[in-house]
Amino acid sequence: MAQTSLLKGKRFYCREWVFHKIQHCLQEKTNNLSGVISTPSKQPPLAPGGSTSNPGTLTAGSAKSGSSWGVLLVGGPGSGKTALCTELLWPTSAQGTHRGLHQQSLAFHFCRADDSDTLCVGGFIRGLVAQICRSGLLPGYEEKVRDPAVQNTLQPGECERNPTEAFKRCVLLPLLSVKPPQQALFLLVDSIDEGSQLGEGEQRSSPGSPRTIAELLASHHEFLPPWLLLICSARRQNKAITKLFTASGFPVPAGANPEC
Ligand SMILES: Nc1ncnc2c1ncn2[C@@H]1O[C@H](COP(=O)(O)OP(=O)(O)O)[C@@H](O)[C@H]1O
Ligand SMILES: [Mg+2]
Repeated sequence: MAQTSLLKGKRFYCREWVFHKIQHCLQEKTNNLSGVISTPSKQPPLAPGGSTSNPGTLTAGSAKSGSSWGVLLVGGPGSGKTALCTELLWPTSAQGTHRGLHQQSLAFHFCRADDSDTLCVGGFIRGLVAQICRSGLLPGYEEKVRDPAVQNTLQPGECERNPTEAFKRCVLLPLLSVKPPQQALFLLVDSIDEGSQLGEGEQRSSPGSPRTIAELLASHHEFLPPWLLLICSARRQNKAITKLFTASGFPVPAGANPEC
């Protein structure tokens, strides 16, 4: 898992409109935090919308007003999704550093077609738990997942057999029961569509059990705490992913910004 910028010293250009959009969604969530009780941010499904952008452009869709809980970045191969996610986490520009969005990162995951470990649902969950513990952003979280019964669901094998249980017990429930942070945080998953073909051919370990990270998040993102923004990226060619998230209420691409 990358711990530093994947741009490897290259300069990052433009995309200011995407950072503004993410900043806006985070700010809305932060504003809604006052007086919030830590219950899942379940929202009614959003009306579907379509992207009319040209190939090569990147689009970012989110729910409107205070209800936004997810951002889906959509763009073809090479349109700059991974670069953008990288810049969000490890800003290289003075503007990015100044904006400080990276300080609101709770955890991230980069899916890569050439590395099957990054597509593994169990590894994804274990990575999230480790990062949330390390982040120090949520006092009390580590203690909750230290419980041996909770730890057991994370064990290799067990976690792969029942990823839903592991995700609930090690991520959703502890996040919902800790004191909400002062500022909204985000969880970033780049290239969430990688591995979706794998999932189609694979047997489920039990009925309804998610075979991919996308399936896991699509069936649970409505139960994430209201202070957590889910940011995902995917290629527009992958209709299945858009459908998966749209069907369960995830915002769809909401028009391109051709500026940059
Ligand atoms: N905004 C940007 N500034 C500088 N380089 C970029 C930018 N967006 C993309 N690139 C470069 O273009 C190439 C493809 O981008 P990448 O993020 O891997 O695309 P995608 O993830 O959408 O397939 C990479 O070499 C990346 O470093
Ligand atoms: Mg990429």
